[in-house]
Amino acid sequence: MTNQPKALVAGNWKMNGLKASLTEIDSLNEKIANNPNMKCDMMICPSATILGAAVERATKLEIGAQDCHAAFSGAHTGDVSTEMLTDLGVTAVILGHSERRADHGETSAEVAAKVVAAQRAGLVSIICVGETEAERKSGQHLGVVSSQIADSIPLDGTHADNIVVAYEPVWAIGTGLVPSAEDVAEMHAHIRDLLKGMFEADGDKMSILYGGSVKGSNAAELMGVANVNGALVGGASLKADDFFAIVEAAYL
Ligand code: PGA
Repeated sequence: MTNQPKALVAGNWKMNGLKASLTEIDSLNEKIANNPNMKCDMMICPSATILGAAVERATKLEIGAQDCHAAFSGAHTGDVSTEMLTDLGVTAVILGHSERRADHGETSAEVAAKVVAAQRAGLVSIICVGETEAERKSGQHLGVVSSQIADSIPLDGTHADNIVVAYEPVWAIGTGLVPSAEDVAEMHAHIRDLLKGMFEADGDKMSILYGGSVKGSNAAELMGVANVNGALVGGASLKADDFFAIVEAAYL
């Protein structure tokens, strides 16, 4: 790799966390301040209800959202636009997480429209892709991810500074199961090739995160795999100590 992207360790709090959970962000600020040689950036993506408060508390890390609507504004009850997110000081948004693809039937075309909206507002899109267990068992995993990448990432307007790809095998999310280092290497090399095919030299500079049951005890091995530029973390991001253990294992 010619241009190793700067690593990112991002936490997805999903539908967890009340105002009281913001003390975890205070702890992360402190841990980051005490470790100036850290070789990664950190981000927390809390629920929409505490996004603004999280931005105000986070002095050493970025705050991202977990979803957005594609439109600038309008009659979309319950939805949040990318402009509303930047208005709060949010800098990124997770898009196409498998839980949204499964729970809300979100298609890659819808994800692509949200990526366009994120780019319009100046947000970084963290675009999630990954195969189900059945797709892996039947040998379709590379093809599934190829289609998700091609259909979820718009060619126009996308560059290394405004997207991050997260490979999250659905069967590894919240299960404690992780793919072998060889399988992660195969998929991340595949995604790198796809990004280079779509974006030429910029494809080499795009961060590709691994997500799915990352924790302190497996982070060094997973983050050490070629083309893994950080982690998207669910369960282990809820407590600052557990979340920072990932950084300690892989990026200190
Ligand atoms: P997990 O979730 O770390 O709890 O497996 C990862 C994710 O869904 O981003």
